[in-house]
Amino acid sequence: MSASAVEIQARTLAGYADASRLRQVHDRDWVLDRLPPRPELLVDLGSGIGQLLEAALLRHPSLRLAVGLERSEHRLAEAAERLRPHGDRVALHQADLTDPAPLPYRADAVTMTSVLHWLYPDEARVFGWVRDHLAPGGGFLLTTYHPARDADGLAGEDEIVRDALVRLGADRAAVPGVFAAAGVLPIGARTRTVDELAALLGEFLTTESFLERQAEVTVADAAQYEHFHAATFGDYYSRLVGPERRGDFFRAVGEAAWQRQQERGWVSRMPVRLWKLVPSGA
Ligand SMILES: C[S@@+](CC[C@H](N)C(=O)[O-])C[C@H]1O[C@@H](n2cnc3c(N)ncnc32)[C@H](O)[C@@H]1O
Repeated sequence: MSASAVEIQARTLAGYADASRLRQVHDRDWVLDRLPPRPELLVDLGSGIGQLLEAALLRHPSLRLAVGLERSEHRLAEAAERLRPHGDRVALHQADLTDPAPLPYRADAVTMTSVLHWLYPDEARVFGWVRDHLAPGGGFLLTTYHPARDADGLAGEDEIVRDALVRLGADRAAVPGVFAAAGVLPIGARTRTVDELAALLGEFLTTESFLERQAEVTVADAAQYEHFHAATFGDYYSRLVGPERRGDFFRAVGEAAWQRQQERGWVSRMPVRLWKLVPSGA
């Protein structure tokens, strides 16, 4: 059986420019508003399709170099296309942020938005990297998500996925076991609490200030959420079902989200924190 359009979208993480308007775009604007006044060198970690770098280049003629580190080659290719008009003001590197190699940059600002939960449990390495790559006076702008965990340790997107699996016939109580059997670590386990994160960050960096907001996702229909899920989470969760049921899985995620929207007036809601950090002792 050939893969459906949404399965291909998930594999290539396509459609993110559109999907990210539902949640991640707010983090980008939040962070961009807090860059130093005339930055010369900016590094964005988990730079995706290059939207933050593009906005920073347009906003700050002072930027000599905007650097993106990203693991997905599909996303890097889309970023290269988007950033082509900025020529040699841009450098993109394929990198795994759970074990980032040193690079010859000292940045006025390092940014990382909507990425950290993917680096669990190895976040310390990227925090050490950031400390070592900030220029004197430079700062790290980081956004982190903190969805509430339920008794099963599920949180945020895990809960929508659980509803989808129940729609496909799973026993609700058995869902945490389905995650474990497929080796899918729930987002509830990947997202540390603010206190845990503060302790971990504190080994490398000092929190200068922070802001918090509620990220609320609402959709117009089931299909919109189906595509948001595929573009944001790719095939991370679809591994919970066999290859022959993946098309049904994405459809059930959209339907589960739409049901939540109708019952609550939103699909998901969670606190997001923007941290501004500087190297300890700076
Ligand atoms: C939700 S997207 C956020 C993209 C962008 N920062 C934004 O705010 O729109 C998460 C990004 O982190 C990247 N990513 C996840 N794990 C990574 C890793 N270990 N190393 C590098 N990039 C990673 C993904 O490929 C994806 O582009």
